[in-house]
Amino acid sequence: MKLLAIESSCDETAAAVVEDGRKVLSSVVASQIEEHKLYGGVVPEIASRRHVESISGVVSEAMYSSGLGFSDLDGVAVTYAPGLIGALLVGVSYAKGLSLATGLPLVPVHHIAGHIAANYIAHPDLEPPFLCLIISGGHSHIAVVEDYTVFRVIGRTKDDAAGECFDKVARTLGYPYPGGKYIDEAAKSGNRTAYKFTHPKVSGGKYDLSFSGLKTAVINLVHNAEQKGETVIKEDVAASFQKTVGDILGEKLYAAASDLGYKKIVIAGGVSANSGIRSKMKSVADSLGAKLYLPEIKYCGDNAAMIGAQGYYDYLAGRRGDMRLNAAATLELGMS
Ligand code: KG4
Ligand code: ZN
Repeated sequence: MKLLAIESSCDETAAAVVEDGRKVLSSVVASQIEEHKLYGGVVPEIASRRHVESISGVVSEAMYSSGLGFSDLDGVAVTYAPGLIGALLVGVSYAKGLSLATGLPLVPVHHIAGHIAANYIAHPDLEPPFLCLIISGGHSHIAVVEDYTVFRVIGRTKDDAAGECFDKVARTLGYPYPGGKYIDEAAKSGNRTAYKFTHPKVSGGKYDLSFSGLKTAVINLVHNAEQKGETVIKEDVAASFQKTVGDILGEKLYAAASDLGYKKIVIAGGVSANSGIRSKMKSVADSLGAKLYLPEIKYCGDNAAMIGAQGYYDYLAGRRGDMRLNAAATLELGMS
């Protein structure tokens, strides 16, 4: 079963051809980051325009490098939610056009489910049920993946997403957007015990998360030092901050896995590329006697291969879109 998958929810225009949800035949990602960098974040109007310009070429390249024609495919999967509405609409409209022209069925895919499914590509043995920590630029969730298309969110951030927090701290330290990977790099030569940041007290659910207090603490630390004419060692701030994020995530994940008895732990989303968080999650899994699954670095961030992986399971579950398919800027995982 082969699907062409399309992803355009934020600032990457991506297309991929994926076989049986696990084998990537081609994957093309056109990133707009260099342009958004100038503004310190994603400018939605620019993102939509660049998607419109890139999508035909990106899809053609994905088809060409897969070595297949449309008649070899079984469907077109597309990210329809959540994300920037104008950006999503480009992918959805293009996929609808392709479906209409070729007669191939249309499979709408939830972006976060796609991030989780990036793990099916890396781990042929991975099957639900499992516990999943999703840490991306827009979302931070702890979810039970009961089946390939059945999700139960048991914890969520009350304020900033983990990636958003990385990006804001990076900006304060003078790194370009998106700053997560610069923090990761700087942290490697920093002292992670140089600064102590407190863990948030989160009101609400036991597995809920919060990052805005940590973000403010780091920003205040840097600004206070500047006002006194002192300089902070950026690498030390980065390492201490990254350690705190890992500890906060680790604490909640540990609690959820031990309470609910999960022995399979999956990490997903852009921040799962972080080397410090990857090793922290390994030690959390080890202390639970659980197996840890991480996506390959190239599939941690936004891409269409993960949409093709999830699309396969959505297709098997009978999910179909038609010409009325619309994009949605917000849609809780598991509510689609
Ligand atoms: O999942 P993603 O590509 O987009 C969303 O769906 O939101 O996540 C992007 C986020 C950005 O905040 C980026 O800074 C962060 O992932 N990120 C990282 C690293 N690589 C990307 N954060 C920390 N360390 C990294 N190595
Ligand atoms: Zn994403």
